[in-house]
Amino acid sequence: MQNEQLILGFETSCDETAIALMKGDNLLINKISSQVEIHEKFGGVVPEVASRAHAEMIRNLFHSSINECGIDIGEIDIVTSTDGPGLSGSLVVGYNFAKSVAWALQKPFYAVDHMVGHLSAPLIEHPNMDPPFLSLLVSGGHTQIVFVEEWGKYNLLGSTIDDAAGEAFDKLSRFCGFGFPGGPAIQKISEGGDPDKVKLPRPKTSNKFDYSFSGLKTAAVYFLQGLTEDDKLLKKDFAASYQEAIVDSLMNIYEKAVTETGVTNLSGGGGVMANTRLREKIQTFAEKNDKNLYLPSPKLSTDNAAMICVAAKNDLTTNEMNIEDIRLSSVIS
Ligand code: KG4
Ligand code: ZN
Repeated sequence: MQNEQLILGFETSCDETAIALMKGDNLLINKISSQVEIHEKFGGVVPEVASRAHAEMIRNLFHSSINECGIDIGEIDIVTSTDGPGLSGSLVVGYNFAKSVAWALQKPFYAVDHMVGHLSAPLIEHPNMDPPFLSLLVSGGHTQIVFVEEWGKYNLLGSTIDDAAGEAFDKLSRFCGFGFPGGPAIQKISEGGDPDKVKLPRPKTSNKFDYSFSGLKTAAVYFLQGLTEDDKLLKKDFAASYQEAIVDSLMNIYEKAVTETGVTNLSGGGGVMANTRLREKIQTFAEKNDKNLYLPSPKLSTDNAAMICVAAKNDLTTNEMNIEDIRLSSVIS
């Protein structure tokens, strides 16, 4: 794969309709149409509503992306899209749209795993990030520690045995009526709050690198239910304590994995990596331990299509795949 090829990418695995165009290392466009306002009143993503919203949005978003870039559609060299994991009704909209564009242009199509997208996202701003590295992937559906020995060799050291970190934010936020999505809502409320005010557990599991968050959420709910009229608790102190418990749990286990593997390159991604407190903690840890840290900026941590473009580019480059091979194995099948 030549480095300067123009890649068109789609990402519709959950509630963001996202399109990006990348040429070489340059991100020409990275558009995200969020459905937050649509799902807000339900307190969570409604899958059927999400897939309909993707279907209504994707065509216009595609045309406006092409127009804003000022490119001729025929210049696109390759089309890529997330093929999972995610909400099936949502995935199918972006995936089929992308395949149709590829077919219409008679250009190759390449599918990308959503988590490989998050794992590759730092490359957009740090094209020099090289394996081996240890990635902390934290999203609404996944919490994983992945040891990337070399590109394509992804060794899952640990993951959550129940809720994902993002889910822990979202579920408590829904219970408390803090807002949707829960992570950014709790982060905002936490500002100026005392993270040590409420003692909450940092759950452990039998596998040293696995996570568990459902007990923390239950402990927080019991704590709130146990409050009496006379108890004085500031909302921001409670939110800050809950956020701190999630961030501490994430970092305690990740730090152990860094120590045991002895890696010098640290990385991460997924929506929860947009969290300011988590970013502060991982940065302090990296600085204290003389490690290199490669994080996507907050906007590229949450779902986007640029990460799908860069993952496709990286995959194709490292596997030295020829575009004509992909054409035969993908679009036509
Ligand atoms: O990666 P992502 O955008 O979508 C999935 O693949 O799930 O992650 C979404 C998750 C949600 O749970 C959301 O509450 C959380 O990321 N999130 C955050 C922040 N921004 C998004 N969690 C904590 N702090 C944030 N600033
Ligand atoms: Zn995601």
